[in-house]
Amino acid sequence: MTDDSLDTCGLDTLATHAGSHRSAERENSEPVFLTSSFCFDSAAHAAAVFAGDVDGNVYSRFTNPTVRAFEERLAALEGGEACLATASGMSAILTLVMGLLKSGDHVVCSRSVFGTTTGLLQSMSRFGIAVSFVEAADVSAWTAAVTPNTRLMFLETPSNPLGEVVDIAAVATIARAQGDCLLAVDNCFCTPALQRPLALGADIVIHSATKYLDGQGRCVGGALVTTAQLIREKFFPFLRAAGPSMSPFNAWVFLKGLETLNLRMRAHSANAGALAEWLQGHPAVSRVHYPGLATHPQRALALRQQTGFGGIVSFEVEGGREAAWRVIDGVRLFAITGNLGDTRSIITHPATTTHGRLSADDRAKAGIVDGLVRLSVGLEDVADLRRDLAAALAPLQSGA
Ligand SMILES: Cc1ncc(COP(=O)(O)O)c(C=O)c1O
Repeated sequence: MTDDSLDTCGLDTLATHAGSHRSAERENSEPVFLTSSFCFDSAAHAAAVFAGDVDGNVYSRFTNPTVRAFEERLAALEGGEACLATASGMSAILTLVMGLLKSGDHVVCSRSVFGTTTGLLQSMSRFGIAVSFVEAADVSAWTAAVTPNTRLMFLETPSNPLGEVVDIAAVATIARAQGDCLLAVDNCFCTPALQRPLALGADIVIHSATKYLDGQGRCVGGALVTTAQLIREKFFPFLRAAGPSMSPFNAWVFLKGLETLNLRMRAHSANAGALAEWLQGHPAVSRVHYPGLATHPQRALALRQQTGFGGIVSFEVEGGREAAWRVIDGVRLFAITGNLGDTRSIITHPATTTHGRLSADDRAKAGIVDGLVRLSVGLEDVADLRRDLAAALAPLQSGA
């Protein structure tokens, strides 16, 4: 199919066809262009392509057909004009900051974001870029934090690890009212299968492709999706010069991962919803965080801006770190690892791993208590996952 004929197609068709350009070999599955550079017909041709006067691939730090196929497919799924693939989710966030901001600028960021995102934004103070962190779900806090120098707002929804839901349209309105200020949304937890931030008013979508876009825990990668102008003028020049680029092999893995994204996200959501309900009734569990639960304070908002609740569930146990570690050490099916978004279920202790580098004060403000356990619910049979968790929680119940 040509890209034009995809214009009116649905998400699953885009996920399987967008970005696919059959070569002269007439392959059905996209090839991997594992080459660091590309050849020219002549010195004059090389000069013209290098200068950008003629289209063509140059060097895989900034142009590669497999990477481009992934970029086109993800842009189509997010409903964005263009995408830039990066080496990791963190390098997508670095590209965002380096491409957009200068000394003297100010960023407003939700407090509940991935710990390394907090650290990266804080480290920008060395370059004269200030950051204010606000309560994610409190729209008035976003307005109150704006200064005349605010140029970027950044949020994650649902957030890692507590599943707090932020009103994307409301924060986009605040960013717009500020004038020269853009809203970037990390769409890692929902993916475009469950939430499309650009349609809700965001300017830029950030991805850690490492998570659900791959979906099988194989490769590290990231991406920004936004307007063609922002990619061309702000982000591509940084990627070209600094080289936080996605490898063609990883791009191919993500391209294939996208084909099953919608199916997987719906299955992750169903399994996570069932486990969250069950955990909520468990006597050893004091609190469950999942946007799909009737008790979740932003459930109505999640229903409005998402088409599913996702695969991440967090819960708290009494007894702090010792009790949380006991649960983690007691599971057999769940893997103890820092990733999320895999077909295999994962269990993590955020306070000592993903958010362990935050100061104790920042962690407390973000609600990441020592008794918190995060689950990335995979695609196993939910009855088996329930049994595994029940066995791990049993010692807490008996006080043994
Ligand atoms: C929400 C979120 N954003 C960004 C990242 C960073 O992605 P990466 O590990 O691919 O650099 C992570 C990683 O866990 C994440 O959970």
